[in-house]
Amino acid sequence: MKVLVIGGGGREHALAWKLAQSSHVERVFVAPGNAGTAHHGENVPIAATDIDELLAFARENRIGLTVVGPEAPLAAGIVDAFLEAKLRIFGPTRAAARLESSKVFCKNLLRQADVPTADYHVFREADAAERFIRDRYPSADEDVAVVIKADGLAAGKGVTVCRNRQDALDAIDRIARKRQFGDAGSQLIIEERFDGEEASVLAITDGRTIVTLPPCQDHKPAYDGDVGPNTGGMGAYSPAPLVDADMLRYIEERVIVPTIHAMKRGRHPLRGVLYAGLMITHQGPKVLEYNVRFGDPECQPLLMRLQSDLFEILDATASGRLDEIAPPVWDPRPSVCVVMASEGYPGSYQKGLPIRGLEDAAALENVQVFHAGTREEDGQIVTAGGRVLGVTALGETIPAAKRRAYEAVRCIRWEGAWCRKDISDKALRHGD
Ligand code: AMP
Ligand code: GLY
Repeated sequence: MKVLVIGGGGREHALAWKLAQSSHVERVFVAPGNAGTAHHGENVPIAATDIDELLAFARENRIGLTVVGPEAPLAAGIVDAFLEAKLRIFGPTRAAARLESSKVFCKNLLRQADVPTADYHVFREADAAERFIRDRYPSADEDVAVVIKADGLAAGKGVTVCRNRQDALDAIDRIARKRQFGDAGSQLIIEERFDGEEASVLAITDGRTIVTLPPCQDHKPAYDGDVGPNTGGMGAYSPAPLVDADMLRYIEERVIVPTIHAMKRGRHPLRGVLYAGLMITHQGPKVLEYNVRFGDPECQPLLMRLQSDLFEILDATASGRLDEIAPPVWDPRPSVCVVMASEGYPGSYQKGLPIRGLEDAAALENVQVFHAGTREEDGQIVTAGGRVLGVTALGETIPAAKRRAYEAVRCIRWEGAWCRKDISDKALRHGD
């Protein structure tokens, strides 16, 4: 069967790499892909959001299964368009993708399903939101424990974790007066701020059957020790010992299952990935957000550990028969993925810099170098994005996997390349 993967980042390289290993898959296409995905199949120069062109390509090339990586095409209704054309596709419909594309929809569903999450209030106008903050926090210098979120997709920039009243008023101003995020800010949420450590738990579901994946942990702040600006994710590892077996069971019972049931009851069943971004507080795990796709970079360490056939899992999900296949088998060894980034990221950065040492890194045992922002130019692989590579390794323990990942990182060079040095160190606090 021919498979089409949509997207061009590290997540999509990992998906293409794993799908290409399936005996059911004769050819993998990736739209638009990167220099790494070109090794496992064929890149197609169509943007991930160009639904008409993607549909035409899938029809003409008789694609048996399309797998959507990023959220933008899901929120724009790519799954609805493919289903209408009777083409098999892995991912949620536009209505179900609101779990990620509308934080108001998500919070209302969480409340209705009684899933542990922060208390919240929704506002449509800046005045009312400001009044709420001033009434609640009459003094300018007290601790203000709120988080302010634009309703819609804002490329990860729509959330402000506030420490004082001015932070909150500034965030309201950016979202509701300056309209920095356009229509994504036509509603905003003010919610209770939690303290704790974050973890990600992903599940695959066809709307009825649920397969929970091993827990993982991302590293969103740019620099070591979780300081600096927010990024798309500077590295991830799995399993995350912060979420032990009992907690994972609790998360399944109190978070994943009630959410998927509530989606079904609301007549927009979720098919694809449910990705729960959680804060592990003293009162237990709380949902911060949902995504309806694989995380990037979480997908890379997860797929590194997957021993089952990914195509069988995604195909069964897309056709509503996830109950018919055996549960996935995971490599017991942990994996660590270190993101190598361009100088300047998450701010502006240069592109087109030649990358050296990729072969040396790839020659190391139990290492995969997943490409994110790369392209090939005159036979040379060059940088083409902020997050450039996701260097991923398996090891007997988390520290061993970390050592091997950084050994591979040291093989790779380009001008200005950098990475966090502490990916997975948080695991050590929890006894691995
Ligand atoms: P979101 O897009 O909703 O996940 O928010 C992005 C980031 O903001 C999360 O990964 C957290 O680091 C932080 N965040 C979101 N909601 C809260 C909350 N209620 N309390 C503390 N931090 C939060
Ligand atoms: N790693 C965070 C995300 O994919 O949203």
